[in-house]
Amino acid sequence: MDDKELLEKINRIEIREGRERGIKSYVLRNNVISPKDASVITSYMRDHGFFFEDKMLSYEKLFGNSNPVVIEIGFGMGDTTAEVAIRRPEFNYIGIEVFLHGFVNLLNELGQRNIENVRLIRFNAVDVLNHMIPDGSAEGFHIFFPDPWQKKRHHKRRLMNPEFIHLLSTKLKVGGYIYMVTDWEEYAEEVLELSAGEKLLMNPFGGFAPPVTWRPVTKFEQKGMESEHPINEIWLERIADSE
Ligand SMILES: C[S@@+](CC[C@H](N)C(=O)[O-])C[C@H]1O[C@@H](n2cnc3c(N)ncnc32)[C@H](O)[C@@H]1O
Repeated sequence: MDDKELLEKINRIEIREGRERGIKSYVLRNNVISPKDASVITSYMRDHGFFFEDKMLSYEKLFGNSNPVVIEIGFGMGDTTAEVAIRRPEFNYIGIEVFLHGFVNLLNELGQRNIENVRLIRFNAVDVLNHMIPDGSAEGFHIFFPDPWQKKRHHKRRLMNPEFIHLLSTKLKVGGYIYMVTDWEEYAEEVLELSAGEKLLMNPFGGFAPPVTWRPVTKFEQKGMESEHPINEIWLERIADSE
């Protein structure tokens, strides 16, 4: 793919665009590719990124090995993603994010530091999961500080809703995990409750989970802590389908 095509493709981030757009868990701001962004994209996208295709992924092809794959949704600026990938090198990571500035920031980090076990896609995670992630294939999902959509009338935009939790569960291997962290207590309680109603999941901790040792503090976590919000961790595991 030549540079021009690469730069055109990077701004297509969802299947249903314009008037067709359904309810989205994100708002797009500042979608303009600066010359610096363009240089990062053309330098590193081929080795550290991939584009949306309506076709299930082969992880072996994408990573060149058969290590288990963990998928992070909404990595923001991506500092945590890079750090986790270095601290837990026995896994491959797919990072999904629509926010251009964050996407380019992590792409640059991966290229500059030569981090080999992460691949990025700039696309709506719901579409990526539905069209590219085979059922029963993922080792885990990381969802750190998803937008809480605080106002009641915006709750329908929350990423972690019953359909999405079910979608995540179907994509996990039996024994695979969903690891979510949030500083929005009411959202945390809601996800605990919703996950109790998902028959493909179990909560090994009964309630909130203790923090893991390998997760560094994220940008949004820092903000949450500055506002004295409690940080709640949720760890869920996929169980076999009883039907
Ligand atoms: C509040 S930020 C948290 C960022 C980061 N995880 C952190 O803790 O600093 C949530 C991020 O999720 C992304 N996001 C929300 N819905 C998404 C979706 N459906 N697909 C891809 N990214 C999404 C947003 O663009 C945003 O950058």
